[in-house]
Amino acid sequence: MENVTLNNGLKMPMVGIGTFLLTPDEAESSVLNALKCGYRLIDTANAYVNEKAVGRAMKKSGLQRGEIFLETKLWPAFYEQQDAVEKTLKRLDTGYIDLLLIHQPAGNYIAGYKLMEKAYKEGKVKAIGLSNFNMEQMKEILAICEVKPAVLQTEVHPYFQEKELKRFLSNEGIMIQSWYPLGHGDKSLLQEPLFSKLGKKYGKSNAQIILRWHIQAGNIVIPGSKSPAHIQDNFDLFDFSLNQDEMEQISAMDQKKRYYTSTPEMLKRYAEMVPPVDEQK
Ligand SMILES: NC(=O)c1ccc[n+]([C@@H]2O[C@H](COP(=O)([O-])OP(=O)(O)OC[C@H]3O[C@@H](n4cnc5c(N)ncnc54)[C@H](OP(=O)(O)O)[C@@H]3O)[C@@H](O)[C@H]2O)c1
Repeated sequence: MENVTLNNGLKMPMVGIGTFLLTPDEAESSVLNALKCGYRLIDTANAYVNEKAVGRAMKKSGLQRGEIFLETKLWPAFYEQQDAVEKTLKRLDTGYIDLLLIHQPAGNYIAGYKLMEKAYKEGKVKAIGLSNFNMEQMKEILAICEVKPAVLQTEVHPYFQEKELKRFLSNEGIMIQSWYPLGHGDKSLLQEPLFSKLGKKYGKSNAQIILRWHIQAGNIVIPGSKSPAHIQDNFDLFDFSLNQDEMEQISAMDQKKRYYTSTPEMLKRYAEMVPPVDEQK
């Protein structure tokens, strides 16, 4: 397993399990499976409405809390609620969160950021960060923050590599974390002939080649999966490396092609949407 050290000294695994669109039962089973395979990073969110299930999987794993790096995200509807972090901790059934992110640059995200800074100072959260912020929005946070964001979680994959944003983040000492690392399962990305060729060379699947490229490119990854076989494969990445020429060939696949484009209308809807967090199993 490879780790990175965040800008406040906290160690974070480079590979974790994502839980977007997983029902509570699916999330519990995938997270438990992942922890059994050796994963130590879990990504969830208030809005995934599966935080209670993630908490159950952590308990069932038998691991000590300190062995797991738990990441979740505050949803805009909760940015101005003083007890939002406490309620998140309660759903996760844990005493602290390793990394808490502002999920969307929607609503009063400055208030949300300040809420996270307070939780950080109180020791309820070990690191804080942002998700789905562009460079301008990040600069706004950097201008007002007392605690610097440690991570930006955003869309990154071989078709959308965010090279300019990564240079900016690197200068600021902020790590990038990729969501949709496998293009959300898009077959045209997964079946790219280059990945098949490299897969044959290394005895790995195309998905494993993509994930290995992410790690070597400095992208923390959290592939999502309901499949025990995929969960196992997505963590079996540490016994081979791509060479410089292969890394460059994948770098040349960048098409600046997003699968998800945020609009002001969507952000407005996000700010108004209240996820049914209290109704989850
Ligand atoms: N911050 C945000 O706004 C945001 C947005 C989106 C996602 N995320 C986070 O990022 C995580 C990853 O994103 P994602 O789950 O949507 O997309 P992803 O990881 O790029 O792709 C997941 C898809 O790929 C398939 N897959 C997984 N491993 C595979 C393998 N080894 N071979 C072939 N197919 C494979 C999965 O199907 P199977 O179930 O069949 O394996 C699933 O359909 C999320 O779970 C979530 O934690 C955050």
